[in-house]
Amino acid sequence: MTLRLGVNIDHVATIRNARGGAHPDPVAAAMLAAKAGADGITAHLREDRRHITDDDIDRLMQSIELPLNLEMAATDEMLEIALRHRPHAACIVPEKREERTTEGGLDAYGQHNTLSPFVARLLDAGIRVSLFIEPAVEQVEAAMRLKAPVVEFHTGRYAHREGQPRAEELRRISDCAALAVKNGIEPHAGHGLTFDNVVPVAAIPQIAELNIGHFLIGEAIFIGLEESVRRMKALMESAR
Ligand code: PXP
Repeated sequence: MTLRLGVNIDHVATIRNARGGAHPDPVAAAMLAAKAGADGITAHLREDRRHITDDDIDRLMQSIELPLNLEMAATDEMLEIALRHRPHAACIVPEKREERTTEGGLDAYGQHNTLSPFVARLLDAGIRVSLFIEPAVEQVEAAMRLKAPVVEFHTGRYAHREGQPRAEELRRISDCAALAVKNGIEPHAGHGLTFDNVVPVAAIPQIAELNIGHFLIGEAIFIGLEESVRRMKALMESAR
């Protein structure tokens, strides 16, 4: 199975918004990422619009040819936006106003009743729903009950641990990816992935897509965005 790279462009918008102008433009970054071999573009429209804005989503939908994966919280406002734009995919993430980034996975198990109508409306609109969950059996089983076609495993814990705890977390991701595929769900992974830690995750044969942002945009300062994306893709391909 081939492994796709979704490039998350949120932090191009973070830099732009630091000065309030139009530069650097995340849509231009999406186009460069496409040129460098990205298979998809990911953008998180947060409730507080701290990076990606509504106008960015409008322009991404109009201008890019790659599939857009819209990351969003399970709120009425975001549901309305997703149904209006109908992106290729919607990845439902937990969102806390005070967090610096998405700190953990969605509790698909505990929030089944809230998520169920939400997921159903997105699926009815032809949007591929992904649930951003921890690599835990009860979360994969909850995704099955919610009829989500995709889960994305939060790799933050894997990325931030060392040694044996990292190996154990990798095993959890791998076991949950196998469980997902066995039950007809496509597993993706993302968060905190870098040139140094991507290969073991990319080597999990069931994983179909990695979504990577902060490191790629940061590395682009030193080597350029195209080279940053190209090197990441090459590392991913070397793992298969
Ligand atoms: N996938 C999801 C669902 C995310 O919320 C994020 C962070 O916005 C990422 C992937 C990418 O994480 P990072 O920016 O650490 O590469």
